[in-house]
Amino acid sequence: MMHTELPAMMRAAQLSGYGPPEMVAIADVALPAMAPHNEVMIKVEAAGLNPFEAKLRRGWLGGLFPLAFPHVLGCDVAGTIIAKGFDVSEFEIGDRVYGLIDVMRSGSYAEYVAVPSYLVRKMPANLSFEEGAAVPMAACTAWYGLVTLADVKPGQRVMVQAGSGGVGSFAIQVAKAHGAWVATTASAANHDFVKALGADQVIDYQTADFRNEVSDIDIVLDVIGGETGQHSYQVLKPGGTLLVVLRGDGVEMANRDANMAKYGVTTKIVAFSAQPEILDHLRPLIEAGSIRVPLESVTPLADIVAAHARLDAGHARGKAVLKVGA
Ligand SMILES: NC(=O)c1ccc[n+]([C@@H]2O[C@H](COP(=O)([O-])OP(=O)(O)OC[C@H]3O[C@@H](n4cnc5c(N)ncnc54)[C@H](OP(=O)(O)O)[C@@H]3O)[C@@H](O)[C@H]2O)c1
Repeated sequence: MMHTELPAMMRAAQLSGYGPPEMVAIADVALPAMAPHNEVMIKVEAAGLNPFEAKLRRGWLGGLFPLAFPHVLGCDVAGTIIAKGFDVSEFEIGDRVYGLIDVMRSGSYAEYVAVPSYLVRKMPANLSFEEGAAVPMAACTAWYGLVTLADVKPGQRVMVQAGSGGVGSFAIQVAKAHGAWVATTASAANHDFVKALGADQVIDYQTADFRNEVSDIDIVLDVIGGETGQHSYQVLKPGGTLLVVLRGDGVEMANRDANMAKYGVTTKIVAFSAQPEILDHLRPLIEAGSIRVPLESVTPLADIVAAHARLDAGHARGKAVLKVGA
């Protein structure tokens, strides 16, 4: 193993049990163990904040991801490689990297993480660490749905539900970068934000029924579920695709087969798990400026409780990250 000098202890935001934001607290903990062959140790500069981590914290995903407490949360990481295993040839000490890491291991709300090298990539040259940490989960989920599953094409009509959120703000841009026309839902305060990302039509979900505003849609990406998901079938053209981003509560699955038959459409489930190769597809688009990182807030690690309270409120605009490094 090659490395610079490593401390024994680090500062981390630890979850002591399922519950409200106050269950997360800053503590001094041992550095995570790093496998000596295929892993890298990253000095974390910034960590993404995702609704997923708030659901983990609340225990909503305990069946899929049973945590052992205390647990350091955090999936999206951006930082610098400070140690690497013997078999790691694609990175050097000092490389700036980012990626989506294993939620069951010690996470990125901490000064150091150890990860298999295949999970991370060099950061696009034009991104700060804070911008880098905002990318992996949200942008890769949007790409996985629209490109991997739905194969979005130039000229297609795409509708993004909740274009102002983390996934939605990347989804608008991914669809535009593929030459699609994009409609999106957002509350009035976020209309300028989603237009700046490229949305062609913006519908205020609080005052209008989107079924009266759009039709003949090829692909709907839905992160909301419930009634929004059910109504989304009605704006698709026959042969269209509803991309259902799994929220973890199951509401989005209701009447799926009946709706597919009734409207002559396909439903595809976006249950994203780490696919670092999507970061390779995003890189040239980010470096060319065709996809920009909608980073809206940077919170110091010490203010983790307030950051998680904002996640629970569900009104994020774009992406939020934690600043971990000095
Ligand atoms: N399965 C997977 O692989 C996967 C991956 C990533 C995310 N997800 C899930 O996808 C969901 C979205 O994630 P995210 O990161 O995009 O969340 P987010 O950033 O917290 O999204 C919040 C945004 O949604 C908007 N919104 C809320 N209700 C709306 C409605 N009825 N219509 C239109 N917009 C609405 C809010 O706008 P206002 O402030 O105006 O209300 C806010 O801007 C979460 O449930 C997350 O857990 C799943």
